[in-house]
Amino acid sequence: MAEQIDLYKLLKDRRTCRSFKPDPIPQEVMARLYEAACSAPSAGGFQRISIVEIADQEKKDTLARISRNQRFIADAPINLVFCIDGHRMRRIAEYEGAPYGQDYAICTLWMGIIDATISAQTLVLAAEAEGLRSCYNGNVVDNADEVSELLNLPEHVIPAFMLTLGYPRSNSQRSRKYPYDVIVHHETYKDMSMEKLYPHHIEKCGKPHFAANAARCAQLQKILIRQYGTEFAEKAMEQVNEQGFLTAYQYWFGCYYPSNEDTAMTAEGYRKFLRNKGLDLDENGMR
Ligand SMILES: Cc1cc2nc3c(=O)[nH]c(=O)nc-3n(C[C@H](O)[C@H](O)[C@H](O)COP(=O)(O)O)c2cc1C
Repeated sequence: MAEQIDLYKLLKDRRTCRSFKPDPIPQEVMARLYEAACSAPSAGGFQRISIVEIADQEKKDTLARISRNQRFIADAPINLVFCIDGHRMRRIAEYEGAPYGQDYAICTLWMGIIDATISAQTLVLAAEAEGLRSCYNGNVVDNADEVSELLNLPEHVIPAFMLTLGYPRSNSQRSRKYPYDVIVHHETYKDMSMEKLYPHHIEKCGKPHFAANAARCAQLQKILIRQYGTEFAEKAMEQVNEQGFLTAYQYWFGCYYPSNEDTAMTAEGYRKFLRNKGLDLDENGMR
């Protein structure tokens, strides 16, 4: 590892990796990464998180399957499942004869997500400094039940996201980003005009390359009707016919994400999952 790290260079060079060598990550490297993860700030200083390290091939195969069959998850040496963990806090509270849970369940959930995210990104940057690359993955939310069972997560432990970690096979391209003036507002929120915003969006997404085949068009139209009504959907589909391709948003939100609608957890299903985990979003405090 380099003696001195140029942080801005590290930030600029970081990129998501989707092709990993099978080479194992030495334990002493993992120990440094976990130290980094645990150094992150956390709400109330409670460190309401757990990280479950998965190196077992069968488990990695399952995680790849539930992640829309993204094969690199099974190929990489390690996957880390970041969890919101109220279980440890609750055990300590009960041991001390103290109450547990200071707020609405939704607040607890939010604080846990934030803690897990900051911790993960701290680990990601440390991993970059070690020559490793990573890929986040949110599919554990859609499959929270199965992941929970696979990892033997107790009550009050909720899988938040996964991080695939390993040595890259090759150096992938850096993804394009919006310039910061699209993101940053001064004093109050102000909409950028669409004339200014859209060229930034096109610059970021590149030339759309999503073919407008019949299946995709039918799927997109269905989602558009549901969200905006028939008139809007008809106009949008006319535009698709004229341009001859789907834009990035049309593809991702119209076709890709809704493609697992039948298998993904519904909003009510997720609320039920959380209730079973002891986190009832309709209740104050914790049980
Ligand atoms: C919560 C979250 C979930 C993600 N899920 C996936 C995923 O399932 N598959 C994947 O290839 N990339 C996934 N990514 C990576 C993003 O696609 C990537 O960060 C984005 O395209 C920007 O690229 P960059 O990280 O190289 O800057 C995810 C990222 C985040 C933060």
